[in-house]
This record gives sequence, structure tokens and C-alpha cells, in this order.
Amino acid sequence: MASLPFPVLTADEAAALVPHASAVGFSGFTPAGAAKIVPSALARRATALHAKGEPWRIGVLTGASTGPSLDGALAAADATAWRTPYQSNATLRKNINSGKTVYFDMHLSQIQPWLRAGFLGKIDWAIIEVCDIEPDGSVVLSTSVGATNTYARLADKVILELNAKHPAFLRGLHDIYEPADPPNRRHIPLFSVRDRIGSPLVKIDPSRIVGIVLNDAEDEVSGFDETTPVTRAIGANVAHFLAAERRAGRLPDGIPFQSGVGNIANAVIAAMAQNEEIPAFDLYSEVIQDGVINLIEQDRIPFASGTSLTVTPPVLQRIYDNWDNYKNKLVLRPQEISNSPELARRLGVIAINTALEMDIAGNVNSTHVLGRQMMNGIGGSGDFTRNAHISIFTAPSTQKDGAISTIVPFVSHTDHSEHSVQIFVTEHGVADLRGKDPTARAATIIDNCVDPQYRDLLRAYVKSCGSVHAYCNPDKAFAFHQAFAAHKDMRKAAELLL
Ligand code: COA
Repeated sequence: MASLPFPVLTADEAAALVPHASAVGFSGFTPAGAAKIVPSALARRATALHAKGEPWRIGVLTGASTGPSLDGALAAADATAWRTPYQSNATLRKNINSGKTVYFDMHLSQIQPWLRAGFLGKIDWAIIEVCDIEPDGSVVLSTSVGATNTYARLADKVILELNAKHPAFLRGLHDIYEPADPPNRRHIPLFSVRDRIGSPLVKIDPSRIVGIVLNDAEDEVSGFDETTPVTRAIGANVAHFLAAERRAGRLPDGIPFQSGVGNIANAVIAAMAQNEEIPAFDLYSEVIQDGVINLIEQDRIPFASGTSLTVTPPVLQRIYDNWDNYKNKLVLRPQEISNSPELARRLGVIAINTALEMDIAGNVNSTHVLGRQMMNGIGGSGDFTRNAHISIFTAPSTQKDGAISTIVPFVSHTDHSEHSVQIFVTEHGVADLRGKDPTARAATIIDNCVDPQYRDLLRAYVKSCGSVHAYCNPDKAFAFHQAFAAHKDMRKAAELLL
């Protein structure tokens, strides 16, 4: 990149171009690779216009969650009219749950095909972070791909945030492939985690690039909490289960893993890596976190495919300083490829995700606290769970010092049905639901996974259903939730069940 091939704008000049009511596709899958200074400038503009009594709110599309400069700033300025496909910001969550912001929670693999199909309307602007720009409009993305390639191709106008924190040698980290749409779609030609099937560059029509904003802000990725006895026990239980599967000949070597996000996911991956019976494993996942980088360094994860490099700034610097060691061990793909149901099924991914709530039939709620308040969204959990070789859900057996049992008679919201969920894991143990009927499922879940103080309550619920194929007692199905609503303690369900 000798000189910049498009006009250089300040963030405020760029923000001034975006009209009220625009649909804006931002780069970013987690805070990794998210546009930063233009969304912050948009938020300042919204605040100034609102102070004058003028409206300014936009539709915000991204890959997944983002950081404080994007979702946080826009939500604090009440500038997000609607949002999809995923978020995890506390202020935005408040706006969604109070009805200020319309939120449409989507399977992450679907956003790109839905945009191409026109289901979500037109994209007016794409605002994307890049680390290199060619005169013909081709760009090298930074630490994520997400849905950026599709936003950049479909938007009427594009603003590039050129971020000097990310070196141009990232060219080659990304594998950009956009499938044809039905009825002309063929198979996605990826047959191993390590295959590359696309281009290292995102090609953008240069006539639609309105300018470049220079930036050097770090990705706003925060670290993880220390593991706790509960998260370590969950991790160890998953690892023991997988080791037993291997001994039983049900876990072929070379099968890849998908791992969800957060503290439990981190503890699970660490426990798997420590288990000597589990050979080194590749990841075919969404997010590549700090823990994965440590395991790449220890040769426990030889290769990781994802859509974002969601690592803290010191870890990212370590990667950049030792790029020769990493460049052949990492690939970032568009989220419709990293999360592709076709590929999860073909590769035989072992999916490991975290639940908020599970029930004794095997249904899982990943999204709605007590059925009512949106937490984050379904993310990629459905893409992987429904199509995995083995689908595993983890959760602590209780929350709020035991006042909430995460295992309930009936989930208050269903994201993953009993037909897709195969294994439950809590700190108490593992429930293997494969090949079991509702009676055996309930017994296994209660005996192995439920906290001891809730086991008799769930057994009483089962008994209250009588002799049936599936346990549904409309009078008592929500006894745990009723008890929490009345007393802030699900243990009080004893009054309704015993
Ligand atoms: N009922 C009520 N509240 C509950 C609850 C339940 N069953 N389970 C958890 N909570 C509360 C916790 O107490 C905590 O409250 P706090 O914020 O006041 O402390 C909050 O919900 C978050 O719980 P925590 O255990 O810290 O969640 P987490 O960070 O491990 O995240 C999910 C769990 C399910 C929210 C998260 O994994 C997620 O968003 N999943 C969906 C997307 C996904 O799976 N992505 C990966 C796909 S690749």
C-alpha cells in the first residue's frame, strides 16, 4: 500500500454522511475486528441531534456481539433502532428488554444468506475495519470476518476504518468464500478443517468506497475470570465423557471440536487439553479465544478455524510478534462457512455450548432469563448443535447461590429441542441422552446432573405427571419459575410439588 487510494476522512466527517434510519452493516464478530471510531462518532452525532430534538437512529447489523465503542456507545446514545443478529452489551440488553430497541435474534449462519435473499431489506452502509487496501477496492480484513464480506458487497456505500494496530501481513489469514444461493447452490467444497476454498481479500466495488478513516485502537476484548471449582468440575466431566467415548470407539481421531464462548467454554477446552486420553484436536468453531492460542503453543490444538480471533491485546501482540509460528495454524472464514450446518454435519463437529436453563426432557434455553429477558442471543449454538456429531450442553447446576436450579421441569423458552441435544453436563456429572426415552432421560438428568437439593422436587414433578410417555403436567410445569417469581427461590417449589 504505497499511498491511500481513497479519500481520508475524520471519524466525524464519516459519521456525518450516514443519514437517520439507515441500515448499517458493521464489521465485528465479538469485539474482534469491530469498527470502532466511526460508530463512536455516530453515537456522538446522535447525542447532538437528539439534544436539538432531531431524530437519528439506525439499524445495526454485525457478525455477532461487538465492543463498547460500537454497541455500547450507540446504545448509550439511544441510536440503535433495531439490531440483529446477536449482542451481549449490558446497555443494549437493557434497551432491548425495555422495548426501546427492536432485536431480532438469529442463527449466525443465516444472516448472510438472508441478506442476499432480501429478507432483511437493503443495507445502506457498510463500516468495516481493515488492515490493508488495494486501489481496486480489495481489502484485507483484521481480526474477524463475520458477515463483513456480505455487508461490503451489498451496501450502497462503504467506509473503511484502516487500523494500524493490525499488520498488513495478515493477508492470507482470511478465507473469503460466498456460496451461490438456491436454486443454484452447490456443495461448499470444504472437506477438512484446514482446507482453504476462497480468497484472502474482500473485493469491494471501488465506486462505492466513500472514504478511509485512520485508526489505531485495540480490539476491546477482555480476559476471562479465573476458573472456579464449578467450572473446573464441568470441564473435567466433559473431558472424562470424551475420553470414555474414545475408549468405546465412538470418537474417531481427527474429529474437530466447536466450543462456545465464555468462562465455562474456556475451562472445558483447558480440561480437554489436560486429559492425556484425548489426542490433540483441531477446532472448527466460531471464536478463537486466548485459551486456544495457549493450546496451539503447546501443540494440543494443531489448527483452529473460526470467524474471529477474539484474543486480548497482549495475546494478539504475541501472535503478531511470532506470526511465522501462527500463520499456517489459523484461518478466519465468513460466519456462514464457520457455522455452516452443511459443514458441521460433514466434518462431524463435536459441539460444546453453554445453556442458561435445561429441562428434564432435554430441551435447552440459551437465550431468555426466566423466559422473559433476553440475555444475548442464540449465536452459533443452534448452527452447531442441530448438526453436530455429538452435541453437548454445559451449565452450572444452580445460579444465584442455589436459588435457581438451571434444570427445571419445563424450560421457559426453547432454543434447542430434545431432538438436537444429546449430552448434558453440570459440575455433578454427565447425562447421556442418546437412545433414551423420556422416562430414562428424566431419570439420568435428575440423578447425574441436578443439584442434590433439587432432585426430590424434580422427582415429585415426574410423579405428578402420572403414567405418561412425556412428562407434562400443565398445572405444575412452571412450579420452579412460579416459586422464583413469588419468593426469589426455586426451592420454594416444594410448596407446589411436595
Ligand atoms: N435463570 C435465571 N438466571 C440465570 C440462569 C437461569 N437459569 N442461568 C444463568 N442466569 C444468570 C446468572 O446468574 C448470571 O446473572 P448475573 O449477570 O446477574 O451474574 C447471568 O444469567 C449469566 O450467567 P453466566 O453463568 O455468567 O453465563 P455465561 O457467561 O456462562 O453465559 C450464556 C451463558 C448461555 C448466556 C452464553 O453462553 C450465551 O449467550 N449462549 C448463547 C450463545 C452461544 O451459545 N454462543 C456460542 C455458540 S458458538
